[in-house]
Amino acid sequence: RDSKVHQNLLEDHSFINYKQNVENLKIVKERLNNRPLTYAEKILYSHLDNPQEQDIERGVSYLKLRPDRVACQDATAQMAILQFMSAGLPEVAKPVTVHCDHLIQAQIGGEKDLKRAIDINKEVYDFLTTATAKYNMGFWGPGSGIIHQIVLENYAFPGALIIGTDSHTPNAGGLGQLAIGVGGADAVDVMADLPWELKAPKILGVKLTGKMNGWTSPKDIILKLAGITTVKGGTGKIVEYFGPGVDTFSATGMGTICNMGAEIGATTSVFPFNKSMVDYLKATRRGEIADFAQLYQKDFLSADKGCEYDEIVELDLTTLEPYVNGPFTPDLATPISKMKDVAVASGWPLDIRVGLIGSCTNSSYEDMSRSASIIKDAASHGLKAKTIFTVTPGSEQIRATIERDGQLQTFKEFGGIVLANACGPCIGQWDRQDIKKGEKNTIVSSYNRNFTSRNDGNPQTHAFVASPELVTAFAIAGDLRFNPITDKLKDKDGNEFLLKPPFGNGLPEDGYDPGEDTYTAPPADRAAVAVSIAPTSERLQVLKAFEPWNGKDALDMPILIKALGKTTTDHISMAGPWLKYRGHLENISNNYMIGAINAENKKANSIRNVYTGEYKGVPDTARDYRDQGIKWVVIGDENFGEGSSREHAALEPRFLGGFAIITRSFARIHETNLKKQGLLPLNFKNPADYDKINPDDRIDIVGLDKLAPGVDVTMKVHPKDGQVWEAPLTHTFNSEQIEWFKSGSALNKIKKDRTG
Ligand code: F3S
Repeated sequence: RDSKVHQNLLEDHSFINYKQNVENLKIVKERLNNRPLTYAEKILYSHLDNPQEQDIERGVSYLKLRPDRVACQDATAQMAILQFMSAGLPEVAKPVTVHCDHLIQAQIGGEKDLKRAIDINKEVYDFLTTATAKYNMGFWGPGSGIIHQIVLENYAFPGALIIGTDSHTPNAGGLGQLAIGVGGADAVDVMADLPWELKAPKILGVKLTGKMNGWTSPKDIILKLAGITTVKGGTGKIVEYFGPGVDTFSATGMGTICNMGAEIGATTSVFPFNKSMVDYLKATRRGEIADFAQLYQKDFLSADKGCEYDEIVELDLTTLEPYVNGPFTPDLATPISKMKDVAVASGWPLDIRVGLIGSCTNSSYEDMSRSASIIKDAASHGLKAKTIFTVTPGSEQIRATIERDGQLQTFKEFGGIVLANACGPCIGQWDRQDIKKGEKNTIVSSYNRNFTSRNDGNPQTHAFVASPELVTAFAIAGDLRFNPITDKLKDKDGNEFLLKPPFGNGLPEDGYDPGEDTYTAPPADRAAVAVSIAPTSERLQVLKAFEPWNGKDALDMPILIKALGKTTTDHISMAGPWLKYRGHLENISNNYMIGAINAENKKANSIRNVYTGEYKGVPDTARDYRDQGIKWVVIGDENFGEGSSREHAALEPRFLGGFAIITRSFARIHETNLKKQGLLPLNFKNPADYDKINPDDRIDIVGLDKLAPGVDVTMKVHPKDGQVWEAPLTHTFNSEQIEWFKSGSALNKIKKDRTG
């Protein structure tokens, strides 16, 4: 148990820390009077920054944690790395990998699409290649595969805590670890050696009994669960699977289930360490980790007997049916036996236009083998795909292995298009040509999300998610009413036949073929590496450190905008076409608050410059103020900044010269992000004061030299006509965060601490 085992085969500097984990756990257990712990609790508490003193109450305390590693996809990595660079540290504090998977558009097929993407995204890839080399991160280039598949194949190990800048990071729960999706700001914390904060999740236990059979596959477990819990049912919770059913299927199947826990809003999902994980670790050349984990199975890598879950859902796998979820939401779950009636009654387009298998959710060897078995059966009756059929291998390793073992050829003979090892249509990177925009149609995929317009940008596309097996059967039948368990197909001579239930190996008999080498390790000598960012670039820009606070109260500030009603991170920093500027703060700041509604005229992106009287867009006015050295505030309503954890929503107001954001209340992540960027998120102590403020009032915030945890701040309001009045403002700054404000940002503070 004392051996030093590497976390993976690619890094020589990262080790598995079970011994430390168990020691931490011992301390926590004593403090909790030896109450039995769930498996998820064990992983979390064994990664506490300070196990001796940390408050631990599920659903209440904020845990400070030390994750084992960080994974970033290429879209979110850009700003995370730019921020990290601005701290001036020589290298990342924890192992980090970057994966190029989101920027590759599916057009005609894998190889050509990949070439085009490398060309179009050259400056982003060059930046990521050089920055990862400079700061000691692993780099997975375009064509290597989808982040979550690469993590499962190479980096995930039982008992680990990892964070990833992508919502489907929980996929790695299939190897018995807690893998949590976060925003770039959280990733930067871990890269810079700050503890990472998470509200102690509640635990939703899912008890699995029985064994799947026939057409049912692991995907159906999560599709069924989504129907039970709805898209919000997992919020603030970890889903922990237990019961005899967990030992009846593959580790990659568990990965699929954990992946889609994101669709019910769960913090993450996890399976306890078991035999299928040992088999998968061995198949991916990590037998040493499997052996090491087995030594810790009893006291660390399993739930304690008698542990308590906050809620329990029970599912019997023996009677579980295949499900089809959608359209437009992943929790609208219909069992295949009812699909015919529901589809007709709902008026969904019955003719299926495209079947898409693969993605990070469902591209394991098992998924591919089982789908290929259905196609071979259909081919033996002379049938091919009736719909367009696409295959997205999750990684180069999967692609090479199914090429060697023949499944890829089977897909091609069926009429399938093999796309690049990347996200492709799953993230809307799909140049779809078979229909016109606005045409009502149905597609079926083995992906995880099916929100309106997600795959092809067409709001009239009815997207359904199902297992890859069912998607393949649908591609053969071409009809949403088809139930392969009961409905016969006609062969080429008109004779009726029933498709055979799918079958296939969970792991390749001849081992995995790694395919082309797409990984680049950071060089030993990194001093000479120059990070590539062209000063003329529109997509990337070096981040300049923000100015520290000048030590004075802020007086006579204009209100940039008094926002009316709901203001989400999408209103604050819109996505869509703006995503290409994620690495360029100046350009992306042109979307600041353009979706928010101005209380004065009830319009979006139309505000009055209080000095000139001219109406302009929010970013333009903010920039005008900033260029004249005028600080400004924003007034907001309840739960300001809810939605995604997008750090741009906090970077932009700081970049444009904002000083304070004053609201009735904040969404917590956004509030923390604002603090990290050196802004003052403040709350009206008396919520009614929100109504008393007029958009043309001027604001003083005074007594800032006495800013202290738990002590109110005073705001003086100068109405255009009328008496000055005062309002108390509350805040949630702790003493460390106050230093962030004073230093100008959290990263400035780190830099100051390191460089003295
Ligand atoms: Fe990529 Fe879709 Fe997964 S965007 S990471 S394949 S959910």
